[in-house]
Amino acid sequence: PRKIIIDTDPGQDDAAAIFLALGSADELEVLGITTVAGNVPLALTARNARIICELCDRRDIKIFAGADKPVSRPLVTAEHVHGKTGLDGPELAEPTMALESGHAVDFIIETLRREPEGSVTLCTLGPLTNIALALEKAPDIAPRVRELVMMGGGFFEGGNITPAAEFNIYVDPEAAAAVFASGIPIVMMPLDVTHQLLTLKSRVERMRAIGSRPAIAMVEMLEFFERFDVEKYGSDGGPLHDPTVIAYLLKPELFGGRDCNVEIELQSPLTVGMTVVDWWQVTDRKHNAKVMRQVDADGFFALLTERFARL
Ligand code: BDR
Ligand code: CA
Repeated sequence: PRKIIIDTDPGQDDAAAIFLALGSADELEVLGITTVAGNVPLALTARNARIICELCDRRDIKIFAGADKPVSRPLVTAEHVHGKTGLDGPELAEPTMALESGHAVDFIIETLRREPEGSVTLCTLGPLTNIALALEKAPDIAPRVRELVMMGGGFFEGGNITPAAEFNIYVDPEAAAAVFASGIPIVMMPLDVTHQLLTLKSRVERMRAIGSRPAIAMVEMLEFFERFDVEKYGSDGGPLHDPTVIAYLLKPELFGGRDCNVEIELQSPLTVGMTVVDWWQVTDRKHNAKVMRQVDADGFFALLTERFARL
């Protein structure tokens, strides 16, 4: 199986991504889950990651807490979307599995140095703070990363936390800029893709029909999570962001995109955190990411349901 580290700020849609990875044990080996402050503060994201693993009876997964704030800005959170705990929706017991004692950043560095070069994929589902801190502390790890697949950014669709910026990039734009400048092969799943993945009633019902603990918890999380977008945008179901990262590793053919240059706006108060994607190749700036724009939505939800059934 392909070795991955999941860096995350759960979040209901982060939970969906972790479930998808754990339901795909034949293809993906989760070396560890590293948590970061984002949707909710760090103490809650570290709690939530453990709750998700326990729902899957995977107390063996190593979970590390990482950065409790962005590299150089105060933390912005998103309780207005995810609720007070970050996983609002289902009744969830407090986790009993242990959090590893080391720091997420050290785990990322040590793992990349220990595993064969080019064998570890980083899956990022939140602000890029932990990855940027690891790169700063240990620049030698960059060429050792096989690929970094991120949920973040948006270009034709605009932003979701400001008119210009997507949440994960907005929270820590300096970290994002460091990652895009690192030379690591990046695959970017922007809002342009995730806004096509609506949790329509029919899709949610197929998940509910599985009937397992993780599936029911997921359905209850989605019913909470989509409320924000459904009320806001008036669609039948909200967009599902983070599982695109894992789905890409399992079935890249579900997605379409192209190699582009991506730069992060760090200055302008109006557009800070914007991902400036040179989609039409109007500059000669170096390509630094594969930016996705198309997705087979039915294929994506079929994959998600199929893997939930394996949990
Ligand atoms: C991203 O922001 C978070 O609220 C979600 O978990 C997702 O990672 C979407 O903009
Ligand atoms: Ca997230």
